[in-house]
Amino acid sequence: MSQDSNRPDSTRMIWRGVVEEYRNFMPVSEHTPVITLGEGRTPLIFAPELSSLKSAHVYLKYEGGNPTGSFKDRGMTLAISKAAEEGSQTVVCASTGNTSASAAAYAAKAGMTCVVLIPEGYIALGKLAQALIYGAKVMQIKGNFDQALQIVREFGEHSSKVTVVNSINPHRIDGQKTGAFEIVDTLGIVPDYHFIPVGNAGNITAYWKGYNEYYKAGITSSLPKMMGFQAAGAAPIVLGHVVDHPDTIATAIRIGNPASWDFATRARDESGGVISSVTDSEILEAYRFLAAKESVFCEPASAASVAGLLKSDIKPGSVVVCILTGHGLKDPDVAISQISVPEGVDATYDAISKELGV
Ligand code: F0G
Repeated sequence: MSQDSNRPDSTRMIWRGVVEEYRNFMPVSEHTPVITLGEGRTPLIFAPELSSLKSAHVYLKYEGGNPTGSFKDRGMTLAISKAAEEGSQTVVCASTGNTSASAAAYAAKAGMTCVVLIPEGYIALGKLAQALIYGAKVMQIKGNFDQALQIVREFGEHSSKVTVVNSINPHRIDGQKTGAFEIVDTLGIVPDYHFIPVGNAGNITAYWKGYNEYYKAGITSSLPKMMGFQAAGAAPIVLGHVVDHPDTIATAIRIGNPASWDFATRARDESGGVISSVTDSEILEAYRFLAAKESVFCEPASAASVAGLLKSDIKPGSVVVCILTGHGLKDPDVAISQISVPEGVDATYDAISKELGV
């Protein structure tokens, strides 16, 4: 084979990340340095088992396919690009893990200092590893996410030198809304139902914004029902009050006072959808089902969307999209806790075939 035939096909479109790909919908100009890791264009996977269970057409938007393994990259590319445009040297965020991993990666790419506040003991191992290896300054606070976010808000108020990159930064929402654009662009239609986990409520806000922007631009002519799911032990929106001590195995959504609470209820009400809760055992059942039956390994919080679908009444024949927000390898401890790890076997053909019963 000649060297030339090994070159990439120059006619094949190279994906430039969500800011460039959706530039018309982004608050950027020619002066914005776009900091990207090629995020977005994540798989939209048809789910035959779920489709047959629900007599519907069910698709999984697998956000674990992003560069740091979660949907946060869509918003972080824009937040860090705008911070760079404004000359910021330092970014700060509170996080249950994924925001910190993403902020750390994009800040490193931009040559910025990244400070992350995470709840000690309640962050999945993969996420902690990511924040550290990308070089963030990691502060494990003796408190929960809500307390960490309060401290970060104070940084935002008191210091003009640091940029807050939590989803209270509107650029995060504008980046994340591209998930809705991709779903519509890939499916060719707007889904009837959009199932999504809810923690700090930025993502449901972002998707609703994205669907509405396509609608207002005349690209689409309908809107989905927004179906948000919180973990039962961390369900302030469902309960209608702040939860002081949120608790769930899905540490990513262990949040008692979501920053985008009002936007989330607006998305629910305007779309005619629901925000409800799923128990940890329902989350884990959906988590195992997704891996074993659909071959999609997501993290526990992500499975809240599918746990919600499994217990919802939906119109037969509907088109459904469930957002799977993060990669399963983020949280190896939960994965291992859900299976029995096999014991060692002698390294011989006889021992293995005896064990297998063949
Ligand atoms: N799924 C995963 C995997 C998450 O990491 C998060 C939030 C959510 C769902 C909920 O999204 O907050 O926009 O409603 N993680 C944040 C973090 C809080 O710090 O990584 P949300």
